[in-house]
Amino acid sequence: MTILVTGATGTVGRQVVEQLAKRGADVRALVRDPAKGFERNLRQFMPSWMAFNMRLMSERFLTEGMVPEAGNVARLTALLGRPLRSYRDFAAEIATSA
Ligand SMILES: NC(=O)c1ccc[n+]([C@@H]2O[C@H](COP(=O)([O-])OP(=O)(O)OC[C@H]3O[C@@H](n4cnc5c(N)ncnc54)[C@H](OP(=O)(O)O)[C@@H]3O)[C@@H](O)[C@H]2O)c1
Repeated sequence: MTILVTGATGTVGRQVVEQLAKRGADVRALVRDPAKGFERNLRQFMPSWMAFNMRLMSERFLTEGMVPEAGNVARLTALLGRPLRSYRDFAAEIATSA
């Protein structure tokens, strides 16, 4: 049986999800803002301010993508001592080496 919990980011819902998960239930959480759940999970591993920052960064990344600012590519290239590889290059490399 799968249990759907609404309001899973709230005070009560959070406890309900945690208790159900501890009992091994197949639980699904309904959330309006996934980033809120992401932030809550991160808070278990890091200070709240850092989890909040990570949430803001992930939201921006999702909406705007990862766009380097002027000079970032050159600075990173200099730091690494080799040209940067895109994810596309990396995936192509893996695909051909498999
Ligand atoms: N806490 C208590 O001691 C207590 C005692 C008696 C009764 N209650 C009742 O139990 C319920 C939950 O309490 P709580 O303390 O856990 O409240 P809460 O911390 O404010 O959490 C409310 C939850 O409901 C979600 N939510 C609010 N409006 C929504 C909407 N229109 N559509 C979908 N989700 C919505 C919120 O989502 P977002 O995170 O996206 O905002 C959040 O996850 C409330 O009805 C409250 O009156 C609570």
